Amino acid sequence: MKLAIFVVIATVWIKLITFSTAIDLAGRPDVDLPGGHKLSDPLPPLVLPKLPYEYNALEPIIDEETMKIHHLKHQEAYRAKAQSTLHQLCQEGGAKDIWACYEDPYIVLRDMKTELPKKFHKDLRNALGGFWNHKFFFDSLHAPIKDNKPSVDSYLYRNILSQWGSFETFQEKFEAEALSVFGSGWAWLTMKCNKIADGSCQLFIEKSPNQDLPVHTPVIGLDVWEHAYYIKYQNRRIEYVRGFWQLIDWKKAEQIPLKECPESVHSHMRVMSASLHQRGQLNDKPDPTELKAALKDVIEGNVDPALVAQMKERFKQGIAQDEEKPHQYP
Ligand SMILES: [Fe+2]
Repeated sequence: MKLAIFVVIATVWIKLITFSTAIDLAGRPDVDLPGGHKLSDPLPPLVLPKLPYEYNALEPIIDEETMKIHHLKHQEAYRAKAQSTLHQLCQEGGAKDIWACYEDPYIVLRDMKTELPKKFHKDLRNALGGFWNHKFFFDSLHAPIKDNKPSVDSYLYRNILSQWGSFETFQEKFEAEALSVFGSGWAWLTMKCNKIADGSCQLFIEKSPNQDLPVHTPVIGLDVWEHAYYIKYQNRRIEYVRGFWQLIDWKKAEQIPLKECPESVHSHMRVMSASLHQRGQLNDKPDPTELKAALKDVIEGNVDPALVAQMKERFKQGIAQDEEKPHQYP
């Protein structure tokens, strides 16, 4: 008798599943989706990313208990809510919007206002925003290093100097912005590239409320929600913000302008190469002293324009190859 009841229940359950799947996919042709998925595949789960370090790795700046709660409770809560919202979007959003479920969360958020139905905006902004912001933040940190700065010859560092005069001034402005976030939110260093004109990138210090993304492409981001620091610092947000400088993985941050704006790098490389050429150092292993002098030439604009034009021709091939590469966010 028990077996018969089980068989009946199982049959009804299987029929229901089959029926709902048929309804779900009705009218949507099976098509290839990003990441090698098919429309008929089950939706991929949004996975809580592992931290690229141990929970105690950021001590003494950020304590182990805070990191565990922050990752396993807060980011996990955003992940769960983001997943259910994405699934709902894909169930109800129509064939066009199902693409969003397979996209990079950053792309979904960035294009949300023009691409996705309005009723999903709030949940996506809060939950998927929270998920992505924390992923970006956690991935951008490493164990504390004193006097931690970007490489002096990086495009990012030179850009910081040209915009704020000194790295210390940039730090002061960033700290002030982080302290001025009222309630919960984020402080950011962001960038916008002028891809049409000279390919240069402009940097910005921004803040965003709650889990909103910054306006421009993020380079570094600092979580200033109280949950990020309260156990150790209580109301002393400034101490937490100042500690942040020791934790930034500048090597990763330096890669963002390279990916976002390769033309800027090529532009810099052209001028750098021209300067090295001027100095008879354009070879595989230029003398380090001459390399520094060439960098100074670039910063001060002390390079023959005719040589720069010559280098531009040489680099043309390289630029064409780079532009063919697909854009990727970290
Ligand atoms: Fe957080």
